[in-house]
Amino acid sequence: MPALTVIEFNGKEHRIDAEVGKSAMQVVIDAMVPGIMADCGGACSCATCHCYVEAPWATRLPEPVPAEREMLECALDPQPNSRLSCQIRITPHTEGLVIRLPQSQV
Ligand code: FES
Repeated sequence: MPALTVIEFNGKEHRIDAEVGKSAMQVVIDAMVPGIMADCGGACSCATCHCYVEAPWATRLPEPVPAEREMLECALDPQPNSRLSCQIRITPHTEGLVIRLPQSQV
């Protein structure tokens, strides 16, 4: 299973063996790492699964679709490397992916 590292806003790191096919949001929630609310359950309609993708992954992941871009405008403190974790799919190619969680989702 590809490794996913999640870094909470306070700096606490979690290295998780992520199941291929799940979203990064689901992996974080299943691992009970706090910091993602995922109010819409992954439907790309709430932005409460906002995360920051660390380099070099920001350019390696598939580009966000227009619906994700629009929803990111609702996220708190968006940055150029902002993504919705429900739209990041775990694949064998995401081995080593690192995401940071924001201070707050709302
Ligand atoms: S869980 Fe709602 S947009 Fe990702």
